Amino acid sequence: MAGKKAKRTRDIQPFYAMEVLAKAYRMEAQGRDVIHLEVGEPDFASPNEVVKAGCSALTGGHTKYTPALGIPELRQAIADSYEESCRPNIARVAVTPGSSGALMLAFGVLIDEGDQVLLADPGYPCNSNFIRLYGGQPVLVPTDASSNYQLSADLIRQHWQEKTAAVLLASPSNPTGTVITPAEMSAIVTTVDELGGVCIVDEIYHGLTYDIEVRSALHDSDNVFIVNSFSKYFGMTGWRIGWLVSPQDYVAEINKFAQNLYISTSAPAQYAAVSAMTAPVIAECERRRLEFMARRDYLVPALRDIGFKIPLMPQGAFYVYADISAFSEDSEQFALDVLENTGVALTPGRDFGEYRHLAHVRFSYANTMERLHDAVARLRDYLGTFNA
Ligand SMILES: Cc1ncc(COP(=O)(O)O)c(C=O)c1O
Repeated sequence: MAGKKAKRTRDIQPFYAMEVLAKAYRMEAQGRDVIHLEVGEPDFASPNEVVKAGCSALTGGHTKYTPALGIPELRQAIADSYEESCRPNIARVAVTPGSSGALMLAFGVLIDEGDQVLLADPGYPCNSNFIRLYGGQPVLVPTDASSNYQLSADLIRQHWQEKTAAVLLASPSNPTGTVITPAEMSAIVTTVDELGGVCIVDEIYHGLTYDIEVRSALHDSDNVFIVNSFSKYFGMTGWRIGWLVSPQDYVAEINKFAQNLYISTSAPAQYAAVSAMTAPVIAECERRRLEFMARRDYLVPALRDIGFKIPLMPQGAFYVYADISAFSEDSEQFALDVLENTGVALTPGRDFGEYRHLAHVRFSYANTMERLHDAVARLRDYLGTFNA
């Protein structure tokens, strides 16, 4: 007889892209060449200095638990990475297992059973599942190009209800790569404060922005939760290390949750992360940012030329959220067909929400320029037959 399973196991959604991924692996096992444009992590390896620092930490004996909120030198380096005018004191900085750990802590100290959290649709799927884990209710707010695929102060007012406790913002966003302007972010933070709620701002793609300056929401208030990570800009996804800056008033609770949920973040990863925040590594990450920008500048016009609709130039991250309605009414079937016929792997919109998800796919340009050219050529050949 099957054992008991908690009710919440039914509430948590899988990554639907797994079907595309499983097919891609099957095709590769059969010798087909697959171009992976579905990946959500940089194609670059972690910078050399970071790897060296991680190895030295291991051989130097840093193989034990650390304080729950992280080693002081890393917490200080994180605090110092913010401009002086908004720099948090070190007590507010918690080192976490990726920004996933930071999101788990922030939702954990904020969400009661039945509380609602406003989120942009499309958005990063795990957020809804974190909220459900704590008994909260994600409220997906449909967004489109008119608000940069982001929540705005107006949208937040329109969707605010008695049970709304918090708003999750991600700028730049996954899957659209769009940002919230500094003026809009200030308006949002003020609005949410007036409404009696709290903002959680996911800044994981800060550093990976193109043509524009973004600034941390810490500039707007000390009473926001800021989530960030070494995963994307520093190319350290597998180390599992990120951070949370919380309002002073929540520091003791965050500490308790960190102690109980995971004791501490990996010690060698923390020492490696200290080295990430040094000038040579940042210079290397800057070169990579320019490479990402060149890829974006190639890919977006090339996809538009084939017939994908991309109303806004993404200004950050390494994603393009493209409307496929010229080719299909079902992005999941479309992704599978494209994979079968061209060997190009994409992520269907369903992973990112409910609003017009069947009309969208996400391209990731975390792949070399050569492979992007190859992917575009294959797509052009295949999709050209649709209008023939
Ligand atoms: C918007 C966003 N937030 C959070 C995460 C989680 O990243 P990590 O836990 O590796 O820091 C991701 C990963 O893709 C993401 O895209």
